[in-house]
Amino acid sequence: MQPFDFTPLNRVVFGPGRLAEIGTLARHQGFQRVLLVADQGVRAAGYVDRARALLEAEGLSVTCFHDFDANPDTAMVEAGAEAARQALADSIIALGGGSSLDTAKGVNFVYTNGAPMKRYWGWGKADRPMLPMIGIPTTAGTGSEAQTYALISDAATHVKMACGDPKAAFRIALLDPELCLTAPPAVRATAGYDALSHAVETWVTTKRNPFSLAYSQQAFRLIHDCFETVLRQPENIEAMGQMLLGSHLAGMAIENSMLGATHACANPLTARYGTVHGVAIALLLRHVVEWNGNPEYGALHADLPLRLLDLAQAAGLPTRLRDAGVSAEHIPALAEAAAQQWTGRFNPRPFDAAGAREIYECAF
Ligand SMILES: [Fe+2]
Repeated sequence: MQPFDFTPLNRVVFGPGRLAEIGTLARHQGFQRVLLVADQGVRAAGYVDRARALLEAEGLSVTCFHDFDANPDTAMVEAGAEAARQALADSIIALGGGSSLDTAKGVNFVYTNGAPMKRYWGWGKADRPMLPMIGIPTTAGTGSEAQTYALISDAATHVKMACGDPKAAFRIALLDPELCLTAPPAVRATAGYDALSHAVETWVTTKRNPFSLAYSQQAFRLIHDCFETVLRQPENIEAMGQMLLGSHLAGMAIENSMLGATHACANPLTARYGTVHGVAIALLLRHVVEWNGNPEYGALHADLPLRLLDLAQAAGLPTRLRDAGVSAEHIPALAEAAAQQWTGRFNPRPFDAAGAREIYECAF
């Protein structure tokens, strides 16, 4: 019997159009001076102006921070903390894709507990209280709004650092599927495939428990059943709602179960080649499922890699490393880097550089 410790993290407010409630939700939480952390895509879609107007209508002051990209790094987060200092922020709202949510958490660490960001690499390194936050994802998605970890790259080395603390949890996750309808098709494809991988990887980690399994399984059902619809029917709000819930549940599964070898092998591709996270995941996931192969799962398991390939193709994602700019001679170095990734420790089959090399070679 595996002992575990489970705490629900946040309140979840779900439904189309519920961004309209952001002003009152924030006011009821006691927010007065908000740092609104939002990526450029969300700003261009007009959501930042909407959120700002709703917050100001409730008497809150709002300072926006947009100076970060798809892979937020320590320098960007430290700049955000400076913006928070200037604004004397007492609260943070993250609006956008996974990068906005992760940046908001990173900014919160540095603003409340001091620089440098690297100090918080690992778990539970923040001693002082952190600001209350609301997370509003606009992609389905990393599920970062359901997690206490921020993935922040070291600006010098590009190594992705998972920085987690129970105080970094969002108080409220506001899940409004309408906001996800404007995501460009490529983002929809990569973010959706990433969410799918979270359901698959968390299902089998060594850290899984009855709660994480419930989240992984329901996340897989929701995402598997509506991913293709979301790709084909950009306006389908029902399907997008299921996808957003699925990615949130998969995020809850990560919080309770961690990830596995797919993420361990994907991170070095992003660090070395700048490969988009969801693309790297799509290149590797089915090979990791095969490599992990557990006869206990029987025929169902044998079908899974084929289905994962189908879905990657449906999403228009590359299916071989060689087609994604990876060169064969880099594989040994990539494998060494993959073996250093913390998340690989939770993989059901013991994972090391030799294993990573086998996985990369299969995916090549
Ligand atoms: Fe991921």
